[in-house]
Amino acid sequence: MRLGIIGYGQMGNAIEKVAIERGHNVSVIVDPKKGYLFDDIPISALRAVDAYIDFSEPDALVENIKRVADLGKNVVVGTTGWYEKLDMIKEIVSNKGITLIYSQNFSMGMNIFFNIVQFASRVINHFPEYDISGFEIHHNKKKDIPSGTAKKISELIIENVDRKKKPVFYPGNRKISSEELHFSSIRCGNFVGEHTIIMDSPSDTIKLSHSAKNRKGFAIGALIAAENIGNLEGVHTFSEILKRILKEEL
Ligand SMILES: NC(=O)c1ccc[n+]([C@@H]2O[C@H](COP(=O)([O-])OP(=O)(O)OC[C@H]3O[C@@H](n4cnc5c(N)ncnc54)[C@H](OP(=O)(O)O)[C@@H]3O)[C@@H](O)[C@H]2O)c1
Repeated sequence: MRLGIIGYGQMGNAIEKVAIERGHNVSVIVDPKKGYLFDDIPISALRAVDAYIDFSEPDALVENIKRVADLGKNVVVGTTGWYEKLDMIKEIVSNKGITLIYSQNFSMGMNIFFNIVQFASRVINHFPEYDISGFEIHHNKKKDIPSGTAKKISELIIENVDRKKKPVFYPGNRKISSEELHFSSIRCGNFVGEHTIIMDSPSDTIKLSHSAKNRKGFAIGALIAAENIGNLEGVHTFSEILKRILKEEL
Protein backbone atom coordinates (compact mmCIF):
# COMPACT_ATOMS: atom_id res chain seq x y z
CA MET A 1 0.00 0.00 0.00
CA ARG A 2 0.98 3.64 -0.44
CA LEU A 3 0.65 5.20 3.01
CA GLY A 4 0.51 8.75 4.31
CA ILE A 5 1.71 9.36 7.87
CA ILE A 6 0.21 12.35 9.71
CA GLY A 7 2.23 13.25 12.82
CA TYR A 8 5.92 12.37 12.45
CA GLY A 9 6.78 12.04 16.14
CA GLN A 10 7.70 8.92 18.10
CA MET A 11 4.76 6.92 16.73
CA GLY A 12 5.00 8.33 13.20
CA ASN A 13 8.63 7.20 13.04
CA ALA A 14 7.78 3.73 14.43
CA ILE A 15 5.00 3.35 11.84
CA GLU A 16 7.31 4.30 8.99
CA LYS A 17 9.84 1.59 10.05
CA VAL A 18 7.24 -1.16 10.46
CA ALA A 19 5.42 -0.12 7.25
CA ILE A 20 8.65 -0.62 5.27
CA GLU A 21 9.25 -3.99 7.00
CA ARG A 22 5.74 -5.03 5.90
CA GLY A 23 6.42 -4.05 2.28
CA HIS A 24 4.47 -0.77 2.21
CA ASN A 25 5.58 2.51 0.69
CA VAL A 26 5.37 5.65 2.86
CA SER A 27 4.82 8.23 0.12
CA VAL A 28 3.55 11.20 2.18
CA ILE A 29 4.49 12.59 5.60
CA VAL A 30 2.48 15.46 7.12
CA ASP A 31 3.72 17.24 10.26
CA PRO A 32 3.33 21.04 10.07
CA LYS A 33 5.49 21.66 13.12
CA LYS A 34 8.36 19.82 11.43
CA GLY A 35 7.85 21.69 8.14
CA TYR A 36 5.81 19.06 6.23
CA LEU A 37 2.56 20.91 5.47
CA PHE A 38 -0.46 19.47 3.61
CA ASP A 39 -0.40 22.59 1.40
CA ASP A 40 3.25 22.07 0.39
CA ILE A 41 2.71 18.49 -0.84
CA PRO A 42 1.58 18.15 -4.49
CA ILE A 43 -2.10 17.20 -4.68
CA SER A 44 -1.21 14.30 -7.01
CA ALA A 45 0.98 12.81 -4.25
CA LEU A 46 -1.74 13.32 -1.60
CA ARG A 47 -4.30 11.64 -3.89
CA ALA A 48 -1.99 8.72 -4.70
CA VAL A 49 -2.04 7.56 -1.05
CA ASP A 50 -4.16 4.44 -0.36
CA ALA A 51 -4.68 5.18 3.37
CA TYR A 52 -3.52 7.74 5.91
CA ILE A 53 -2.41 6.98 9.48
CA ASP A 54 -2.75 9.81 12.03
CA PHE A 55 -0.69 9.77 15.24
CA SER A 56 -0.50 13.54 15.77
CA GLU A 57 -2.12 15.44 18.62
CA PRO A 58 -5.71 15.83 19.87
CA ASP A 59 -6.10 19.50 18.86
CA ALA A 60 -4.95 18.78 15.31
CA LEU A 61 -7.22 15.81 14.68
CA VAL A 62 -10.45 17.38 13.35
CA GLU A 63 -8.57 19.53 10.83
CA ASN A 64 -6.47 16.53 9.71
CA ILE A 65 -9.58 14.37 9.21
CA LYS A 66 -11.22 17.17 7.19
CA ARG A 67 -8.16 17.31 4.91
CA VAL A 68 -8.10 13.52 4.46
CA ALA A 69 -11.89 13.40 3.91
CA ASP A 70 -11.64 16.13 1.23
CA LEU A 71 -9.14 13.87 -0.53
CA GLY A 72 -11.67 11.00 -0.28
CA LYS A 73 -9.10 8.82 1.53
CA ASN A 74 -9.51 6.33 4.38
CA VAL A 75 -7.70 6.93 7.66
CA VAL A 76 -6.50 5.05 10.75
CA VAL A 77 -6.46 7.23 13.88
CA GLY A 78 -4.13 6.42 16.77
CA THR A 79 -4.16 9.95 18.22
CA THR A 80 -5.88 9.95 21.61
CA GLY A 81 -7.67 12.59 23.68
CA TRP A 82 -10.28 13.77 21.07
CA TYR A 83 -13.18 11.40 21.79
CA GLU A 84 -15.63 14.15 22.84
CA LYS A 85 -15.53 15.12 19.14
CA LEU A 86 -16.49 11.63 17.92
CA ASP A 87 -19.93 12.77 16.64
CA MET A 88 -18.35 15.59 14.63
CA ILE A 89 -15.78 13.16 13.18
CA LYS A 90 -18.57 10.66 12.29
CA GLU A 91 -20.39 13.41 10.38
CA ILE A 92 -17.27 14.37 8.39
CA VAL A 93 -16.61 10.69 7.59
CA SER A 94 -20.19 10.01 6.49
CA ASN A 95 -20.48 13.24 4.42
CA LYS A 96 -17.41 12.30 2.40
CA GLY A 97 -18.04 8.53 2.31
CA ILE A 98 -14.62 7.59 3.69
CA THR A 99 -13.70 5.00 6.37
CA LEU A 100 -12.01 5.73 9.71
CA ILE A 101 -10.66 3.16 12.16
CA TYR A 102 -9.63 4.38 15.61
CA SER A 103 -8.40 2.89 18.85
CA GLN A 104 -7.16 4.16 22.18
CA ASN A 105 -4.57 1.41 21.91
CA PHE A 106 -3.49 -0.44 18.77
CA SER A 107 -1.29 -2.97 20.56
CA MET A 108 -2.46 -6.57 20.15
CA GLY A 109 -1.44 -7.31 23.74
CA MET A 110 -3.58 -4.45 25.01
CA ASN A 111 -6.54 -5.69 22.99
CA ILE A 112 -6.04 -9.11 24.63
CA PHE A 113 -5.80 -7.25 27.97
CA PHE A 114 -9.17 -5.52 27.27
CA ASN A 115 -10.76 -8.98 27.03
CA ILE A 116 -9.05 -10.10 30.26
CA VAL A 117 -10.26 -6.95 32.08
CA GLN A 118 -13.79 -7.55 30.79
CA PHE A 119 -13.74 -11.16 32.03
CA ALA A 120 -12.19 -10.24 35.41
CA SER A 121 -14.80 -7.49 35.89
CA ARG A 122 -17.64 -9.94 35.26
CA VAL A 123 -16.18 -12.34 37.84
CA ILE A 124 -15.52 -9.67 40.48
CA ASN A 125 -19.07 -8.35 40.03
CA HIS A 126 -20.20 -11.38 42.09
CA PHE A 127 -17.78 -10.63 44.96
CA PRO A 128 -18.74 -7.31 46.62
CA GLU A 129 -15.88 -7.51 49.13
CA TYR A 130 -13.49 -6.49 46.32
CA ASP A 131 -12.97 -2.81 45.60
CA ILE A 132 -11.51 -1.91 42.17
CA SER A 133 -9.23 0.85 40.98
CA GLY A 134 -6.51 1.40 38.40
CA PHE A 135 -3.49 3.44 37.44
CA GLU A 136 -1.47 4.19 34.33
CA ILE A 137 2.12 5.36 33.81
CA HIS A 138 3.40 7.09 30.66
CA HIS A 139 6.48 9.06 29.60
CA ASN A 140 6.62 12.68 30.71
CA LYS A 141 6.07 14.09 27.20
CA LYS A 142 2.60 12.63 26.76
CA LYS A 143 0.13 15.44 26.02
CA ASP A 144 -3.16 13.93 27.23
CA ILE A 145 -4.06 12.74 30.72
CA PRO A 146 -5.58 10.29 31.58
CA SER A 147 -4.57 8.01 28.71
CA GLY A 148 -7.27 6.98 26.22
CA THR A 149 -6.54 3.39 27.28
CA ALA A 150 -7.28 4.25 30.93
CA LYS A 151 -10.67 5.60 29.83
CA LYS A 152 -11.38 2.46 27.79
CA ILE A 153 -10.40 0.14 30.69
CA SER A 154 -12.61 2.21 33.04
CA GLU A 155 -15.55 1.87 30.62
CA LEU A 156 -15.08 -1.92 30.53
CA ILE A 157 -15.08 -2.15 34.34
CA ILE A 158 -18.15 0.11 34.71
CA GLU A 159 -20.08 -1.84 32.06
CA ASN A 160 -19.45 -5.08 33.96
CA VAL A 161 -19.31 -4.22 37.67
CA ASP A 162 -22.74 -3.07 38.89
CA ARG A 163 -21.43 -1.34 42.04
CA LYS A 164 -19.12 0.98 40.07
CA LYS A 165 -21.06 3.78 38.37
CA LYS A 166 -18.49 6.29 37.11
CA PRO A 167 -14.74 6.76 36.69
CA VAL A 168 -12.92 9.46 38.63
CA PHE A 169 -9.60 10.58 37.19
CA TYR A 170 -9.12 13.77 39.24
CA PRO A 171 -10.91 13.37 42.61
CA GLY A 172 -9.39 16.45 44.24
CA ASN A 173 -8.99 16.64 48.00
CA ARG A 174 -11.77 14.29 49.15
CA LYS A 175 -12.69 10.65 49.73
CA ILE A 176 -13.60 8.35 46.82
CA SER A 177 -17.21 7.11 47.10
CA SER A 178 -17.86 3.37 46.81
CA GLU A 179 -19.65 3.94 43.47
CA GLU A 180 -16.64 5.68 41.96
CA LEU A 181 -13.83 3.92 40.11
CA HIS A 182 -10.60 5.72 40.91
CA PHE A 183 -8.10 5.59 38.02
CA SER A 184 -4.98 7.67 38.47
CA SER A 185 -2.19 8.74 36.12
CA ILE A 186 1.56 9.13 36.55
CA ARG A 187 3.85 10.88 34.08
CA CYS A 188 7.50 9.91 34.47
CA GLY A 189 10.63 9.41 32.39
CA ASN A 190 10.40 7.12 29.39
CA PHE A 191 7.53 4.70 30.15
CA VAL A 192 5.96 3.64 26.82
CA GLY A 193 2.68 2.80 28.58
CA GLU A 194 1.71 0.77 31.64
CA HIS A 195 -1.87 0.07 32.80
CA THR A 196 -2.77 -1.80 35.99
CA ILE A 197 -6.07 -2.66 37.61
CA ILE A 198 -6.26 -3.57 41.28
CA MET A 199 -9.02 -5.66 42.89
CA ASP A 200 -8.62 -5.47 46.64
CA SER A 201 -10.47 -7.37 49.39
CA PRO A 202 -9.81 -7.54 53.17
CA SER A 203 -7.98 -10.87 52.54
CA ASP A 204 -6.02 -10.39 49.34
CA THR A 205 -5.19 -8.27 46.30
CA ILE A 206 -5.45 -9.20 42.64
CA LYS A 207 -3.45 -7.09 40.18
CA LEU A 208 -3.67 -7.25 36.40
CA SER A 209 -1.09 -5.31 34.45
CA HIS A 210 -0.05 -4.63 30.88
CA SER A 211 3.26 -2.98 29.98
CA ALA A 212 4.23 -1.88 26.49
CA LYS A 213 7.97 -2.47 25.93
CA ASN A 214 8.27 -0.32 22.81
CA ARG A 215 6.16 1.39 20.14
CA LYS A 216 6.42 -1.42 17.59
CA GLY A 217 3.31 -3.19 18.94
CA PHE A 218 1.17 -0.07 18.39
CA ALA A 219 2.62 0.40 14.89
CA ILE A 220 1.88 -3.21 13.87
CA GLY A 221 -1.76 -2.86 15.02
CA ALA A 222 -2.22 0.44 13.17
CA LEU A 223 -0.83 -1.13 9.99
CA ILE A 224 -3.10 -4.19 10.33
CA ALA A 225 -6.00 -1.69 10.55
CA ALA A 226 -4.78 0.15 7.41
CA GLU A 227 -4.38 -3.16 5.54
CA ASN A 228 -8.01 -4.10 6.33
CA ILE A 229 -9.66 -0.70 5.96
CA GLY A 230 -10.75 -1.15 2.35
CA ASN A 231 -13.47 -3.69 3.26
CA LEU A 232 -15.43 -1.28 5.48
CA GLU A 233 -17.46 1.95 5.48
CA GLY A 234 -17.89 4.60 8.19
CA VAL A 235 -16.28 4.79 11.63
CA HIS A 236 -15.05 1.59 13.31
CA THR A 237 -12.93 0.62 16.30
CA PHE A 238 -9.85 -1.57 16.02
CA SER A 239 -11.58 -4.15 18.30
CA GLU A 240 -14.22 -4.64 15.58
CA ILE A 241 -11.49 -5.21 12.98
CA LEU A 242 -9.78 -7.78 15.20
CA LYS A 243 -13.06 -9.62 15.79
CA ARG A 244 -13.62 -9.74 12.02
CA ILE A 245 -10.09 -11.03 11.34
CA LEU A 246 -10.40 -13.69 14.08
CA LYS A 247 -13.78 -14.86 12.77
CA GLU A 248 -12.33 -15.23 9.29
CA GLU A 249 -9.46 -17.32 10.70
CA LEU A 250 -11.58 -19.53 12.98
N1 LIG B 1 -3.67 4.45 19.85
C1 LIG B 1 -2.45 3.98 20.18
O1 LIG B 1 -2.18 2.77 20.15
C2 LIG B 1 -1.38 4.96 20.59
C3 LIG B 1 -0.09 4.54 20.95
C4 LIG B 1 0.89 5.50 21.24
C5 LIG B 1 0.56 6.85 21.16
N2 LIG B 1 -0.72 7.22 20.82
C6 LIG B 1 -1.13 8.61 20.64
O2 LIG B 1 -0.61 9.05 19.38
C7 LIG B 1 -0.35 10.45 19.45
C8 LIG B 1 1.10 10.71 19.06
O3 LIG B 1 1.96 10.06 20.01
P1 LIG B 1 3.55 10.22 19.92
O4 LIG B 1 4.10 9.49 21.10
O5 LIG B 1 4.01 9.87 18.56
O6 LIG B 1 3.65 11.79 20.16
P2 LIG B 1 4.73 12.79 19.59
O7 LIG B 1 6.08 12.15 19.57
O8 LIG B 1 4.53 14.08 20.32
O9 LIG B 1 4.28 12.93 18.06
C9 LIG B 1 3.20 13.71 17.64
C10 LIG B 1 3.67 14.43 16.40
O10 LIG B 1 2.58 15.11 15.77
C11 LIG B 1 3.06 16.39 15.42
N3 LIG B 1 1.97 17.33 15.16
C12 LIG B 1 1.57 18.39 15.89
N4 LIG B 1 0.55 19.02 15.27
C13 LIG B 1 0.30 18.34 14.13
C14 LIG B 1 -0.61 18.50 13.04
N5 LIG B 1 -1.47 19.53 13.00
N6 LIG B 1 -0.61 17.60 12.03
C15 LIG B 1 0.29 16.60 12.04
N7 LIG B 1 1.21 16.42 13.00
C16 LIG B 1 1.21 17.26 14.05
C17 LIG B 1 3.95 16.77 16.59
O11 LIG B 1 4.80 17.85 16.31
P3 LIG B 1 5.42 18.67 17.61
O12 LIG B 1 6.20 17.70 18.40
O13 LIG B 1 6.30 19.70 16.97
O14 LIG B 1 4.26 19.23 18.35
C18 LIG B 1 4.74 15.47 16.74
O15 LIG B 1 5.79 15.37 15.81
C19 LIG B 1 -0.73 10.86 20.88
O16 LIG B 1 -2.07 11.34 20.88
C20 LIG B 1 -0.61 9.58 21.68
O17 LIG B 1 -1.43 9.56 22.83
C21 LIG B 1 -1.67 6.29 20.54
